[in-house]
Amino acid sequence: NNVITVLIDGTLVASSDIQVLAKTKSWIEFSHIDGLSITGGIIDGQGTALWNCKHSGKSCPTRATSLRINDAQNVNINGLSSINSQKFNIVVSGCQNVHMTRVNVSAADDSPNTDGIHVEQSSDVTILNSSISNGDDCISISPGTSNLWVESITCGPGHGISIGSLGIKAEEDGVHNVTVTLSTFTGTKNGVRIKSWGRPSRGFATKVYFQHIIMDNVKNPIIIDQNYCPHEEDCPGQASGVKVSEVTYEDIKGTSATEIAINFDCSPINHCTGLSLKDINLTYENPIAKASCKNAEGTTSGVVEPSGCLADESNFPLNVLVLKLKDSKNALEGL
Ligand SMILES: *[C@@H]1O[C@H](CO)[C@@H](O)[C@H](O)[C@H]1NC(C)=O
Ligand SMILES: *[C@@H]1O[C@H](CO)[C@@H](O)[C@H](O)[C@H]1NC(C)=O
Ligand SMILES: *[C@@H]1O[C@H](CO)[C@@H](O)[C@H](O)[C@H]1NC(C)=O
Ligand SMILES: *[C@@H]1O[C@H](CO)[C@@H](O)[C@H](O)[C@H]1NC(C)=O
Repeated sequence: NNVITVLIDGTLVASSDIQVLAKTKSWIEFSHIDGLSITGGIIDGQGTALWNCKHSGKSCPTRATSLRINDAQNVNINGLSSINSQKFNIVVSGCQNVHMTRVNVSAADDSPNTDGIHVEQSSDVTILNSSISNGDDCISISPGTSNLWVESITCGPGHGISIGSLGIKAEEDGVHNVTVTLSTFTGTKNGVRIKSWGRPSRGFATKVYFQHIIMDNVKNPIIIDQNYCPHEEDCPGQASGVKVSEVTYEDIKGTSATEIAINFDCSPINHCTGLSLKDINLTYENPIAKASCKNAEGTTSGVVEPSGCLADESNFPLNVLVLKLKDSKNALEGL
């Protein structure tokens, strides 16, 4: 049946006993389905006891995602709210054509790994008019995601909208054609972030557009971090193989909560290329906001504050010519 409708008329409440979902990956799951619409209601994962367990440092039962959509096509989720999930709120994995509108998420700002909406191995996904406040990424975008459109999101508190972590595996699918537009970040740890592990990988992120965004007191409003290495395990001394290219930042304004408002920390062996900064104004009171760039190449246009520190790509053909002349026995022949 390709017109299954699930109407949640009220609040669906998970067990507060942390053992009940301990052996399952998710609390509510739809798999291998073509044509599904989920409308309305609230799903309450009652995750507090598990968050407290995680905070205590004890060993805890496995935590469940509240709603998981797996290997499905043509899915609409409309007007659903997810609160207090044990772990991720909503996961979209292996799907095509998923449209989410007015999907709100709320969890405590210190709740561990309560990502709002996590998208992986999926194409043609839209997330519109949604409001997310939690303890991890508002939206996390993982390998194998393409043609993702995110519009009119309010995010915060939380960790912002993140592409990554990429490069956890040596062989992995890339992320391409992602747009985040007309959105607001308030008091978040990051605004728009691309993050990869600092170790070899054939992953990539390309054709990414972050535009028309308001930052309100955000710690890292614009960030690319290619040196992610939690607990300094399995990566120290290595460089990320993930290629980040063609990323556009346009019309991003507001306040940074730290001095470094733009931070491009790209891979020393695989530079970020084709970064574009246009009409940016991010301020920090005292000292004034700064930009930091490592191995980042691209162009700026319009007013860019703090002013960009990108290596200008238009210089590179000249360098190539210089090298050729050096290698040639006869300078005229080289020219
Ligand atoms: C989602 O949150 C927004 C902003 O708080 C609110 O206006 C809207 O009614 C909420 N939507 C639902 C479905 O709860
Ligand atoms: C999203 O919100 C905007 C502004 O509130 C509204 O004009 C638009 O119709 C909404 N779109 C959807 C798909 O709900
Ligand atoms: C990029 O994704 C958007 C939807 O987010 C789609 O409309 C557009 O056609 C895609 N562009 C390409 C070149 O595939
Ligand atoms: C940047 O924004 C600040 C605060 O809104 C404003 O005072 C300043 O004039 C803006 N700078 C530019 C170059 O537009």
